[in-house]
Amino acid sequence: MFKPQLLHCLSSLVLATLSVAASSQSYLAQSALTEILNRGAPILGFDTGCAIEHPTCDWMAKLPSDTKLVHMNLPGTHDTATWNYTQETQDALLGYTGVIPEAKFFQCQEHSIFQMLNEGIRVFDLRFAWNPGNQTIGFHHAQALLAPTTRMEDVFFGLYSWLDKHPSETILVSLNHESGTGTPNNPELQEHLYGIFNSDLGKKYWLQTNGTLGTLGESRGKLILLQRFNYDMLPPSLSNRIGIQLPPDQWTDNGPNITILYNQAEAQFAFIEDYYEIGLPSGSGVALNVQWKLNATLAHLQDATTLNPDQLYISFASSEHNSDVPPEYPRIMALGNGTVPGVNQQMLPWLKERKGQRFGIVMLDFYDSVPGLVEAVIGL
Ligand SMILES: *[C@@H]1O[C@H](CO)[C@@H](O)[C@H](O)[C@H]1NC(C)=O
Ligand SMILES: *[C@@H]1O[C@H](CO)[C@@H](O)[C@H](O)[C@H]1NC(C)=O
Ligand SMILES: *[C@@H]1O[C@H](CO)[C@@H](O)[C@H](O)[C@H]1NC(C)=O
Ligand SMILES: *[C@@H]1O[C@H](CO)[C@@H](O)[C@H](O)[C@H]1NC(C)=O
Ligand SMILES: *[C@@H]1O[C@H](CO)[C@@H](O)[C@H](O)[C@H]1NC(C)=O
Ligand SMILES: *[C@@H]1O[C@H](CO)[C@@H](O)[C@H](O)[C@H]1NC(C)=O
Repeated sequence: MFKPQLLHCLSSLVLATLSVAASSQSYLAQSALTEILNRGAPILGFDTGCAIEHPTCDWMAKLPSDTKLVHMNLPGTHDTATWNYTQETQDALLGYTGVIPEAKFFQCQEHSIFQMLNEGIRVFDLRFAWNPGNQTIGFHHAQALLAPTTRMEDVFFGLYSWLDKHPSETILVSLNHESGTGTPNNPELQEHLYGIFNSDLGKKYWLQTNGTLGTLGESRGKLILLQRFNYDMLPPSLSNRIGIQLPPDQWTDNGPNITILYNQAEAQFAFIEDYYEIGLPSGSGVALNVQWKLNATLAHLQDATTLNPDQLYISFASSEHNSDVPPEYPRIMALGNGTVPGVNQQMLPWLKERKGQRFGIVMLDFYDSVPGLVEAVIGL
């Protein structure tokens, strides 16, 4: 006999059981994510959200999906992961690194990765190597170990979780192996990395195309790999490649105008300015060092506005002359010394005058200290 009452009771019970199961599952998932994000926090920071009316929050949402990535202006941060590498952090990690040059020579940022994302930064420059113990991959800047227990996976989880909340956006991640750490670059390291990108999770969030930069539409909600490391120790069976390959041996150190052919069949080039170590005689001072760096950066940006509209341009506005007396460490080059303005302040009017033109990827140090700089790069 049909008993609607009973059926109703039963289905309520089933629904209640299901929803308990679902909520305990999402509670578990949430707890796991929280634990991962806490372990990632020394590199990620914490996501305190994004004021919806802020122009840089989801700025890609307004662009048509058929926009080619090579036509876009993408603000990035050089040595992204150094944002919390103050003297206090260095002192706390002396047991791992021994005595190394002061923290100010390594620090290139001061806002966390989550802040950067919410402030419109879309390109990250991450330098990896084994963490102490050679079991997990972590982040470094030359000899400076940035966080001994944060794993690359934790930081990528943070990026995935941010993209879930901002599905209109895309993030480009440049990865290169930091060779100055004293840890080995061995087959295990490369297989571990390969595993991250080729896991189910990795395949969901990393754009899987090899050797091409497509449209914004194809890239929304995803990460794009700029591969500045070699997979030269992998077994041939691990042959999947994603993103674009910018091999370290073709990335001329300190080059003001590097050209890398990353896709021969389709004649796709990357034009890169990475003139960072200003080679002026000792004692040249802030004004001259900044002038040289600005000159190289603006020359390359000028190229980006006028040449090869369908090719990738990457310009680093970041630099140092650490060996100068007195030294111009990254903050001085970017922001000046109080009397002489730095590269960032001097670049701002140049960018504003050319609003609407193509600049490509522009990698910045201490971008946050010059209000409007990110907006000027994007062209907002
Ligand atoms: C930043 O560094 C300071 C000093 O070492 C540390 O106390 C703080 O927890 C770090 N911040 C994060 C988010 O890890
Ligand atoms: C990690 O690798 C370095 C360099 O090969 C080696 O000196 C060190 O002993 C290794 N550490 C551990 C814990 O295996
Ligand atoms: C990926 O692209 C690179 C560069 O274009 C090319 O050398 C390589 O053969 C491609 N790999 C695969 C597995 O298609
Ligand atoms: C900044 O550098 C210039 C030289 O480039 C120098 O004349 C000036 O005194 C410096 N200012 C400060 C505050 O150190
Ligand atoms: C300025 O940049 C141009 C183009 O890269 C270069 O030829 C020239 O030597 C640079 N001059 C100075 C003063 O840096
Ligand atoms: C950079 O190299 C390209 C290609 O060789 C060339 O067309 C361009 O003029 C160069 N730009 C500068 C600023 O030297």
